[in-house]
Amino acid sequence: MTSRVLVYNKPRLEGIITVPGDKSISHRAVMFGAIAEGKTTVTGFLPGEDCLSTIDCFRKLGVDIQVDGTNVEINSPGMDGWQEPKEVLYTGNSGTTTRLMLGILAGTNFHSVMTGDASIGKRPMGRVTNPLKQMGAKINGRENGQYTPIAIQGTALKAIDYTMPVASAQVKSAILLAGLRAEGTTIVREKEISRDHTERMLQQFGAKIDVKDGVISLEGGQRLHGTHVDVPGDISSAAFFLVAGAIVPNSEIVLKNVGINPTRAGIIEVMQQMGANVTVDQELSDAAEPTATITIRTSNLKRTTIEGDIIPRLIDEIPIIALLATQAEGTTIIRDAEELKVKETDRITAVVTELKKLGADITATDDGMIINGPTSLKGAKLSTYGDHRIGMMAAIASLITDSPIEIDDADCIAVSYPTFFEHLDLLLK
Ligand code: S3P
Repeated sequence: MTSRVLVYNKPRLEGIITVPGDKSISHRAVMFGAIAEGKTTVTGFLPGEDCLSTIDCFRKLGVDIQVDGTNVEINSPGMDGWQEPKEVLYTGNSGTTTRLMLGILAGTNFHSVMTGDASIGKRPMGRVTNPLKQMGAKINGRENGQYTPIAIQGTALKAIDYTMPVASAQVKSAILLAGLRAEGTTIVREKEISRDHTERMLQQFGAKIDVKDGVISLEGGQRLHGTHVDVPGDISSAAFFLVAGAIVPNSEIVLKNVGINPTRAGIIEVMQQMGANVTVDQELSDAAEPTATITIRTSNLKRTTIEGDIIPRLIDEIPIIALLATQAEGTTIIRDAEELKVKETDRITAVVTELKKLGADITATDDGMIINGPTSLKGAKLSTYGDHRIGMMAAIASLITDSPIEIDDADCIAVSYPTFFEHLDLLLK
């Protein structure tokens, strides 16, 4: 844990950034490549700590994975050729690794044990283990399978018809991955649509999946075949520079190759509603995931209300949107976002506590926050709570504070954006 003093002295930002690979898609590319028989190649992979945890888990199952910068090659015998791991599978800080692996390991023919860091140990796994148990999975964990460490005895699974109680792509994906091995057709029903990378990638790897009006159907017993995955840039990483460009005076930032999958792009809609000077030029291609070049310029911002079905489409961006709202005219309301409490840290408490230290007028509610703006922010010592997105929110805030911000842990940012400070340096003028 390395503290870092952020001294930027009211800069302006200008330049072009190619944002690093999407974290959600990078995880899935490795997982699907390991499940598939044969060779899978990945370009644009995010070599962040979370995705490296996923690679580490599959290597322990005997899958050959070679990483060279942002290129990855996976050679797998397919799931039936995996070996029982001799060691505990360590998932680090990664909820996506832990939850999706649960769905995958449930349908193997061997025993495995998974654990992660202190944050993972507090995150609810019952939302995944409960439906998996309905499918016949044999899972034991702390507090009746609610928390890691968790042991999974692979077994034969049967399909379920499951209505999602929360909007969560991790839960949905775990059930679909288990469904791939289950007998019968697994059905997942979503009231609010969460990110759909799993559905798209299943098709890319040759599976037949039906998606209609929030109902996903997947027949069990389908085999995946190795393929090529080109990972787009992560809109959740781009979000930090989108907000920076809007709030730092005299700025213009061009973000290239940003994934704009509609189930992820809620922040663009919100910024447009708030009056941000943002342009989105979509690239013409038939790739599985749409991408765009996004240009952001310093903006006059006004308040908004963020609620309902847009929440899952921008859930990871709420910390940085809260900072944006401190610079907008009027009262911004964020509600229906109680899921923030079970992220890498309780992000309602973390965001409100830390932005208050900078002088923001922000109040926590049960399911979100209320922010009055605009306020000028001052420097302070901030805690990241070991959460990469809180760390990056603090770093972007330091561009507009009247004195430096010190963060207690700059290293946690490497979970999703290892080159964050290099990219920031590139833009500083
Ligand atoms: C993710 C889904 C979301 C998101 C997380 C990544 C994924 O979590 O917050 O950062 O890759 O499926 P939930 O499924 O818990 O909403």
